[in-house]
Amino acid sequence: MTKPVLYLIACAAGPAQYVDEGVRAAQEAGWDVCLVLTPSAARWWEPRMAEMAELTGHPVRSQYKLPWEKDVLPKASAMLVAPMSSTTLNKWGAGISDTLAIGLASEAAHLGVPVAAVPHFNQAQGAQPAVARSLAVLREQGVLVLDGPQGPGAHPPEQGDPRGFPWARAVGALGRLLTDGGR
Ligand SMILES: Cc1cc2nc3c(=O)[nH]c(=O)nc-3n(C[C@H](O)[C@H](O)[C@H](O)COP(=O)(O)O)c2cc1C
Repeated sequence: MTKPVLYLIACAAGPAQYVDEGVRAAQEAGWDVCLVLTPSAARWWEPRMAEMAELTGHPVRSQYKLPWEKDVLPKASAMLVAPMSSTTLNKWGAGISDTLAIGLASEAAHLGVPVAAVPHFNQAQGAQPAVARSLAVLREQGVLVLDGPQGPGAHPPEQGDPRGFPWARAVGALGRLLTDGGR
């Protein structure tokens, strides 16, 4: 049986260093995972990009394709933006999709593709007034935003726990989003 396709979209927030753990958690839950990185996150993974392509079985994408290029990834059944940086959150909330990562997720939310997002940023970043507005705008569009101990602005600067990012919980919530609308 063909597996459902998950676009795991990671921004340059601390836990993106361990996005391979997110890929494995989603694979264990039965997803065919395609990894999409913001251009900033792609810089972090540049030395190990081939490893990620091998792990997922798909090219890792981080840039919009050129007009004459074909899509290299299968169509997504769902998308998970994790970790979501404050920068990507605020651009998305403002309707700016200048990265492939935001472009895919923001359009998916209006194409009937379930989208979940797990923010990860510190209290100082989360205190920007734009953050609360952007979170509300995403929720208004049906995006499942997962809060929690790693949630928006939860930790003081320099005290995040990127290794403790809740990959399995995010994948579980995404599964519930597909089966019962996230309840
Ligand atoms: C080592 C490092 C860790 C960072 N961690 C975070 C983070 O956890 N959350 C966040 O919102 N930004 C974090 N940033 C800042 C983002 O990388 C920066 O805002 C960037 O523009 C995000 O772009 P992107 O959302 O397109 O990936 C971090 C930057 C560095 C260099």
